[in-house]
Amino acid sequence: MNIAIVGATGAVGHELVRVLEQRRTPVTSLRLFASERSAGATLAFRHTPHKVEPLTIDVFDGAGFDFVFFSAGASVSREFAPVAMRSGAVVIDNSSAFRMDADVPLGVPEINPEAIRAHRGIIAVPNCTAIILCMAVHPLHRLGRIRRIVVSTYQAISGAGARALAELQEQTRQAAAGQSVTPKVLPHPVIHNVFSHNTAIGPDGYNGEETKVVQETRKILADEAILVSPTCVRVPVPRAHAESINLTFERPVTVAQAREALSRAAGVRLVDDRERNTFPMPVDASGGDDVLVGRIREDLSQPDGRGLNLFACGDQLRKGAALDAVQILEVLRD
Ligand SMILES: NC(=O)c1ccc[n+]([C@@H]2O[C@H](COP(=O)([O-])OP(=O)(O)OC[C@H]3O[C@@H](n4cnc5c(N)ncnc54)[C@H](OP(=O)(O)O)[C@@H]3O)[C@@H](O)[C@H]2O)c1
Repeated sequence: MNIAIVGATGAVGHELVRVLEQRRTPVTSLRLFASERSAGATLAFRHTPHKVEPLTIDVFDGAGFDFVFFSAGASVSREFAPVAMRSGAVVIDNSSAFRMDADVPLGVPEINPEAIRAHRGIIAVPNCTAIILCMAVHPLHRLGRIRRIVVSTYQAISGAGARALAELQEQTRQAAAGQSVTPKVLPHPVIHNVFSHNTAIGPDGYNGEETKVVQETRKILADEAILVSPTCVRVPVPRAHAESINLTFERPVTVAQAREALSRAAGVRLVDDRERNTFPMPVDASGGDDVLVGRIREDLSQPDGRGLNLFACGDQLRKGAALDAVQILEVLRD
């Protein structure tokens, strides 16, 4: 397959290169694109240096790409993804540009492979927080039909990109040296701090991330009736988002049923050790493929047995972005 990555020098782009290597995707040729800023950079793929090329409108003409991954933000996707599609490539887009378009599938291969196969040239990878949430609750939705989700997130700094991650590393060094920190990439200090997600607040008081979680969860689970109440927060963790999830079902679902369903779910790993007080953590989810789910307990404030609490954690650069994108390619090759 001839593959291109737009945004190859970014946090998701790097991970895409790594995932294509690790999953032994049959790549015949790989071309890497970024902005003019990356002119001269090279990235290794299968021990061979690949030059990063500046993205221009004509790079897709006659290039013969089978798949183009976009991970350079929504405005780049809006401008260039239709051009890539018209050149004959299938576009797998990590940005928010097309996610809510009616004719664009929001692909999570473990949940909606048939929607992915019905694509019309562009498949969107959902928001990372929504993917991790849906991976944790989809097996339970099938058990008792979820009516309401209250989710509070603890989101990693690399979710805001490579420069934000570098800022966390710099502030960690500065704090250790007793120096004061000056935020440059994110709006508040990231070290020794927790703050409301950095996306803009809408007229309803919800930030952009929260609105995506509401809309995309319904689209991924193909159930517009699910009520979702999110609070999205950044924490000084380099990588892997965590989510505290409270569910209300249509029918009672027991802890034992939930554990059984989650232990059988593809892409999910049950981490629920009450004796050792060990549950999903970013340090265990980082770099891995599975979404970790645990702390499964009855919500005692819902005495009719229709409520459960869980805690989930997933690497947002892998299952929340690059891995999901490559799994979408794998669904289409099957
Ligand atoms: N980070 C995550 O955890 C995560 C998870 C899910 C989805 N996403 C989405 O994935 C996308 C990329 O995020 P990221 O975190 O990887 O961001 P990032 O680290 O800031 O990387 C952005 C990439 O886009 C390139 N780029 C920027 N403007 C460009 C332009 N005009 N033309 C061509 N390339 C351009 C950058 O190239 P230069 O290096 O040359 O500037 C870089 O390669 C975003 O849409 C984001 O919302 C991110």
